[in-house]
Amino acid sequence: MDRNLALEMVRVTEAAALSCARWVGKGDGINADQAAVNAMRKTFDVIQFDGTVVIGEGERDEAPMLFIGEKVGAGGAPEVDIALDPLECTNSVAYGRPNALAVVALAPKGCFLHAPDTYMEKIATGPKAAEAISLNNTVEENVNGVAAALEMDVSNMTVVILDRERHEDLIRRVRATGARIQLISDGDVSAAIATAVPDTGVDLLMGIGGAPEGVLAAAALRCVGGGMQGRLMPRNQEEIDRAKKMGVEDINKIFDLHELAMGDSIMFCATGVTTGDMLKGVRFFPGGAYTHSLVMRASSGTLRYIETQHFFDRKPKY
Ligand code: FBP
Repeated sequence: MDRNLALEMVRVTEAAALSCARWVGKGDGINADQAAVNAMRKTFDVIQFDGTVVIGEGERDEAPMLFIGEKVGAGGAPEVDIALDPLECTNSVAYGRPNALAVVALAPKGCFLHAPDTYMEKIATGPKAAEAISLNNTVEENVNGVAAALEMDVSNMTVVILDRERHEDLIRRVRATGARIQLISDGDVSAAIATAVPDTGVDLLMGIGGAPEGVLAAAALRCVGGGMQGRLMPRNQEEIDRAKKMGVEDINKIFDLHELAMGDSIMFCATGVTTGDMLKGVRFFPGGAYTHSLVMRASSGTLRYIETQHFFDRKPKY
């Protein structure tokens, strides 16, 4: 993936983050999401590339913008598939909680799993423990295996789990291994990435979250290095049919990292909206704001953090 395009994409996630950051704590996820979508859509179109949304805001009939199949970009080479979430963690913005991101991932055509808008069971960790995880393992085998691979006492490692009723049994079993748990209200994309980024203190992500978010996390882990597996968890026949229509032949299949996001030409970019494990949120000052972003490319493995100072009197209003 072209280096310059990767840096152009930062402008896209910055624009989305800046727009929805104005909605932090206002209790209105719908308008927060809409602000991010509008800004992202608008910024794509001033960048020269030919993009097709494959992971987006939903099906064409349910999302007016950034829907699956929508073309974005000013046109011309390169031709790429896009996985995006203009606002990952809508509720975190609505209620002023951590971990909200604006996210875009790019890959050559056909390289992202076309995941339907359903749930996915996920497990993710950093490069050192990548071989120690499997959705075929028991919870205990995964936790102890990661601790052994990281050469740390299990009581010192941290497992991130979404704080949901469906995870009651998982939480109980992880606790019984002696591992520490970080329960998050939302945001398993940033949690999955954090397992692979040094100094976050997060070692393993487990549990069930959104399937599209699984593909976004996989794109990031392909860049930074790490291990991940995902298995679709459809809630009803309609979701099974939708998955099949999108090309998933075996609904029970365990997808490996390289099947969720294929090839080496993957690029991932995220800007923090509210502060989380990896990125600071948008901070406003009189006449402008600071943003904090992360850009990565699988081909080089470079992890680039970008701090930007924006002046609103000299840039387009989103
Ligand atoms: P949204 O941005 O769609 O609100 O997703 C936030 C999130 O927490 C994801 O990070 C996670 O994968 C998913 O929701 C979990 O879904 P649910 O809230 O239904 O448990």
